[in-house]
Amino acid sequence: MLEVKLDDLESARIGRESGLEVENELKAWEPTLKAHHRVLLERAGDPAAMLGWIRVPDDTETLREVKRYAEAAAWASEVAVLGIGGSALPARGLYEALAPGGKTLHFLDHTDPLPIRRLLERLEPARTLVVAVSKSGGTAETAALLLVFRRWLEDALGEDWRRHLAVVTDPEKGPLRALARAEGLAAFDVPKDVGGRFSALTPVGTLPLALAGADVDALLMGARRANRRVAETAAKTALALFLLERYRGKRVHVFMPYGRRLYAIAQWFAQLHAESLGKARDRKGSRVHAGPTPLPALGPTDQHSLLQLFREGPFDKAVIFLRLGEPGEDLRLPPVKGLEAFDYLFGKTLFALQEAEAEGTRRALLEAGRPSLTLTLPRADEESLGELYQFLMWQTALLGELYGVNAFDQPGVELAKVYAYALLGRAGYEDVRKRLLEEA
Ligand code: PA5
Repeated sequence: MLEVKLDDLESARIGRESGLEVENELKAWEPTLKAHHRVLLERAGDPAAMLGWIRVPDDTETLREVKRYAEAAAWASEVAVLGIGGSALPARGLYEALAPGGKTLHFLDHTDPLPIRRLLERLEPARTLVVAVSKSGGTAETAALLLVFRRWLEDALGEDWRRHLAVVTDPEKGPLRALARAEGLAAFDVPKDVGGRFSALTPVGTLPLALAGADVDALLMGARRANRRVAETAAKTALALFLLERYRGKRVHVFMPYGRRLYAIAQWFAQLHAESLGKARDRKGSRVHAGPTPLPALGPTDQHSLLQLFREGPFDKAVIFLRLGEPGEDLRLPPVKGLEAFDYLFGKTLFALQEAEAEGTRRALLEAGRPSLTLTLPRADEESLGELYQFLMWQTALLGELYGVNAFDQPGVELAKVYAYALLGRAGYEDVRKRLLEEA
């Protein structure tokens, strides 16, 4: 079960300028938080509200289809996942954290030709499954990779290419859905009322994870637990982060997991925070330019780059630590003759070292009056990560309510897509292209 510790936010520990009266403030805000929680649950009935992610963990029927497909794809040993933003980050976060050991997944969420060429040279078409993921079905980066991989499959396999390509997209609309219909491809739905970065537990995440051999049932089980624990977890952390930003000037929210395998989750956290909360206007239409700046960091690696700033730089940061109760697999440090200078490490494990580093960092920040909160997962397994994922989505949604913004749209992202389409000469974008070229 996810554990949330807010002790290091207490003003008694870090001073009144940076700290909170955690218990009193939670009590004072409890009715507001309850109301926001209730409103989100009520609004979830309206497809336009984009709150379908709340019910996704209950959708065991879709999960059955996903598992059936993954079992039948036993012929594949590697999977190329084409997608970007919410169509890649959450799934990659789960894959790296779980390291399930089944098929190898390659997440292609960029347009850098060199690594893509190298990967194509290494992959064997007959043993490769390509999964194209795009809610809209039209994002240019994903479309470009689809062109490359489809041609690569067809050149090597002829008509059999169809068996090697699956899509995850809108149930009805968009070029990917049209392609799947026209060619009879395996296709999975991103529910209409679930947006990209909130689609982690739909087939956007469950299909790649099932192919990699992860226990996707446990993933959803953990997420259902998070749904039951909103008041004791996400409501508290959302309030703390909001108060720290609004009233204590902590405009930067650092997300710092301890463990390399958790780092991609920090990148997804950054997307959740940035795209959901970075908004020009609030729900009433007033100009607010809201949004704390998320900053992914990695422990202990970034103790040797960013920590100096966190401890002694501007008083504008709050740190969210993510730690594990146990490592799963560990490595013991052997005594080595001639290296007695390091005898304090002899017999200890790498995880024990990592924990000492995490604890040392927490204490160093505390003593400097820098607020931090700690999330601890018992271990990096499917159930715990499912809970963490749904918790982070709830935290973002509640932050959206506290800031009074719509956390479920991303007009800035969409505008950049439109400009890119126009500059590339996509049909239907001629007027925008003309304006951009005139203004250039
Ligand atoms: O969260 C979002 O909505 C975005 O980050 C999208 O996931 C991203 O732009 C990719 O969009 P699509 O899934 O339509 O290709």
